[in-house]
Formats: sequence, C-alpha cells, structure tokens
Amino acid sequence: MPTILITGANRGMGLEFARQYAADGWRVLGTVRDPMGGRALSEAGGEVYVCDVADPQQVARLKASLAGLGLDILLNNAGIYGENQEFGAVDPQGFLKVVAVDTLAPLKLAEAFVDQMVGRKIIAAVSSKMGAMSDNTSGGAYAYRVAKAGLNMVMKSLSVDLASRGVLTVALSPGWVKTDMGGPGAPLEAVTAVAGMRKVLAGLRAEDSGAFIHYDGSSIPW
Ligand SMILES: NC(=O)c1ccc[n+]([C@@H]2O[C@H](COP(=O)([O-])OP(=O)(O)OC[C@H]3O[C@@H](n4cnc5c(N)ncnc54)[C@H](OP(=O)(O)O)[C@@H]3O)[C@@H](O)[C@H]2O)c1
Repeated sequence: MPTILITGANRGMGLEFARQYAADGWRVLGTVRDPMGGRALSEAGGEVYVCDVADPQQVARLKASLAGLGLDILLNNAGIYGENQEFGAVDPQGFLKVVAVDTLAPLKLAEAFVDQMVGRKIIAAVSSKMGAMSDNTSGGAYAYRVAKAGLNMVMKSLSVDLASRGVLTVALSPGWVKTDMGGPGAPLEAVTAVAGMRKVLAGLRAEDSGAFIHYDGSSIPW
C-alpha cells in the first residue's frame, strides 16, 4: 500500500488530500497542530500525528514516531498567509513566521524524511502563483509572496541535491481555492484543486523534477 505524509491535514486542502488518497487505497499519515483537532482527518481515513512544522522539536518527535516507515510522497501542504503584510505596515515578526512555516519548514521536513522515501520518492509542496514573479501584477502580501517564491527555490534546489537519490520534487499551485485561507469568494472547490494536483503527482516524470506546476497540469513561469 503506498503511503503519503501530509502536513496540515485537519482542514482545507490538506484534509481533502487525505480524503482522496485514503479513498484511493493509500495509507495516509496526516499532521495536525492541535492534539484535539484530528477528528475530521481520522474520519477521512487518515492516521493522526501532532506536529507544528515550524517547531524543530515537534518535527523531531514526528520523525521518531514514523521511524522505519517508507513514504512514497511527502506532501508539504501546511501554510499560513500572514497578517499586516502591506507596504507601510509590514510586521517583521509576522513576516519571519510566514517564512518559517511556508519556506523553511518544508526544507527541514525534506531533511528529516529523505532517507525514508520509497517507491516514486516524491517530495512535493503546495506553493502558490503568488510566489511567481510572472504573476505579480498587484503587489503587496509581502510575507506570503516572498515565502512562496522562496519555497519554489527550495523545491528547485532539492530537485538538484536529491536527484542522485532518485527523489523527485515539485512545487504545486492549486489555483484560488475555497478554504479558510482562500475565502468563500474563491472560484475553485478544494475537491477540484486537489484532484488536479493528485493527477500532476501521479504523472510526474523525472524531467519534471523541480518544476512549478498548476493544478491543471500547465507549468508556471517563475
Ligand atoms: N486556498 C487557496 O486559495 C490557496 C492558494 C494557493 C496556495 N495555497 C496553499 O495551500 C496550502 C493549504 O492551504 P489551505 O487553503 O487549505 O489553507 P487552510 O484551510 O488555512 O489550512 C492551512 C493548514 O495549514 C496548517 N498549518 C498552519 N500553520 C501550521 C504550522 N505551523 N504547522 C503545521 N500546520 C500548520 C493549518 O493547521 P491549523 O488548523 O492548526 O491552523 C491547516 O491545517 C497552503 O500552503 C497555502 O499557502 C492556498
């Protein structure tokens, strides 16, 4: 049975990924921050692990809990948008927190679990078009844009550094999706965005490693 580890799997797209992979017969290991917050994940068929991805001690505990388990996919989904990130009022601590969660944590999780990758050995991250220079016509959102642009670079460097170990990496763009982060006005349902990203993951080829790919399969200019 193939196995996936999904961060931030208690709500939003992480929970939808858990639902879809579990329904497809995968073993789903999902992380939540709140120890009491795993019910939806468990009902979706996932195994619940507690981990704040920005806390090195919790990442070390997660690694210890999953020792010896093979992972076909490590899916870095957990992310935050950040508050007070508009020009003239950028909150420095908040800025660094977004980078810690959205950029650094996926790298540290890759370091933690790279030796446990098996099968297709895919390390993926849910990024955003907001991290693409090519898509930035509205400015603002400094922390989130910087963090996702940085995440794209992390995924690209991982594709180079881990190629000799047979690990493929990819930065995924889900589109604008109806979740707590995307808000009720978003045009896409999580079920659609997640189904699209799963298709991208299923079809990922060695030559795609390090790429930035939209949920519809198109590649996104940096
Ligand atoms: N929605 C969109 O339109 C959109 C567009 C582009 C990219 N994305 C990206 O898609 C991913 C999923 O977003 P979403 O829309 O599903 O957002 P969401 O509904 O707000 O869910 C975010 C998830 O991340 C978890 N999380 C936040 N900080 C964490 C931390 N420090 N450690 C562990 N987990 C943490 C949350 O856990 P808690 O419940 O504990 O807070 C929650 O499970 C994110 O990376 C986001 O940037 C979203």
